[in-house]
Amino acid sequence: MKAKITLAKEFRIGDIDKRIYGSFIEHLGRAVYGGIYEPGHPTADENGLRQDVIELVKKLNVPVVRYPGGNFVSGYNWEDGVGPVADRPKRLDLAWGTTEPNAFGTNEFMAWCRKANAECMMAVNLGTRGPDEARNLVEYCNHKSGSYWADLRRSHGVEEPHNIKLWCLGNEMDGGWQMGAKTAVEYGRTALEASKLMKWTSPGIETVLCGSSSRNSPTFGTWETESLDIAYDSVDYVSLHQYYDNRPDDTPSFLAKTLELDEFIYSVICAVDYVKSKKRSKKTINLSFDEWNVWYHSNSIPYEKWSVAPPRLEDIYIFEDALMIGSMLITLLRHCDRIKIACLAQLVNVIAPIFTKTGGGVFEQTIYFPFMHLSNYGRGAALMPLVDCPKYDCKEFTDVPYLEAIATFDEEKDEMTVFCVNKSMDENVVLDLKLMDFDGYKPVEFISMDGYDKKAENTFDKVNVRPHDNPVPEADGSDVTVNLAPFSWNVIRFKK
Ligand code: AHR
Repeated sequence: MKAKITLAKEFRIGDIDKRIYGSFIEHLGRAVYGGIYEPGHPTADENGLRQDVIELVKKLNVPVVRYPGGNFVSGYNWEDGVGPVADRPKRLDLAWGTTEPNAFGTNEFMAWCRKANAECMMAVNLGTRGPDEARNLVEYCNHKSGSYWADLRRSHGVEEPHNIKLWCLGNEMDGGWQMGAKTAVEYGRTALEASKLMKWTSPGIETVLCGSSSRNSPTFGTWETESLDIAYDSVDYVSLHQYYDNRPDDTPSFLAKTLELDEFIYSVICAVDYVKSKKRSKKTINLSFDEWNVWYHSNSIPYEKWSVAPPRLEDIYIFEDALMIGSMLITLLRHCDRIKIACLAQLVNVIAPIFTKTGGGVFEQTIYFPFMHLSNYGRGAALMPLVDCPKYDCKEFTDVPYLEAIATFDEEKDEMTVFCVNKSMDENVVLDLKLMDFDGYKPVEFISMDGYDKKAENTFDKVNVRPHDNPVPEADGSDVTVNLAPFSWNVIRFKK
């Protein structure tokens, strides 16, 4: 089939906040223990941080990592995770039915962030705890010295404050599965007071109000407007969470779910701006899409209750998931004027692009690569491409464009990149790329992932599903013709 994409610098959506390429580490399964932290592992440094994992995280170029949960944070006593390790208590984690040894906590995570070149997005417990414990954690992390919590940090061997800028006010507080779940009004009040005290403690920090736990949550919409109505003046972002599955197996419908994702984002923007107008406020609240991914492959795998770090949520991703991850991140970028933060949930072992063997090796899952391409090359501004392509109907959606596309323009580096998924399972696309005002820009690289069975996956022995280079397409004036293989992920890079 044939398609055309027209691009111009004026089609600018907005500047891309690099934090849109964030990720997430929760005390869950083997994300921490056996994932980023494994004392005694052959690649572990003196602090037990696995260097083989850090190398892969660095290649992903993840600027911010949310921590320590997730559902876990709603029962977490952060004080359990600081100070001499031998004195730290073991606790039952009611969120995931495991035992938390607390060998790893705030200071260990901050040391990991420094090694991984990432900032921390810290979540506070507004489930079983409240504003007081939240402001104490801010003081522990961000106050220099001369106060109880700051001096406690110094007595723990961390002289300089961590200066954490970004803070989540709890996690999914609308969900019945959450410890200390709340109504929108209860949460709005708690979040307002927590945010206020946290900002008084450390001026300049930013806070994220929990939105609904997903678009399917029964309170979706009213939760956002009611809680925001109370907390609007003190918070900076509202969160969104969304996971997709392909069950029953219906790939055309699965890949079409980005239409729903697009609508979801749009409705949250509307809800947030409705509160803004009602308040006649000059302040705009932006979005933090701090959990997104494909999640379903591992749902029925049993685990041993109350064990320490058992394998949980260990999805092994397949090739079609890589196309979905590329499509989802493209959809988020189309809203980069309002989405400032996003976290691929999660980063290691738990529904993650990086997979380890405890005591053994590590490999990149299929979804690692589209994320890596977007995070490395998708910087600068996002441009809305004018896409003219055939569409398909499937069980769940009609008029689904075969192509999912975005372009990014990095003016400083004189680079422009087109990212594109061909969702057709059997037809290639002859794409006519029309560049309106990119004089002097030439294609320099054409990377793709294609030719795999939709269920192909990677293993410790073979990272089978991975990108490959193609011949660089020729430019004919402002036109470039690119052949997109059936069912493919494509990155076409231009330079001046
Ligand atoms: O990422 C896994 C879990 O999904 C998180 O703990 C929770 O916030 C969400 O429901």
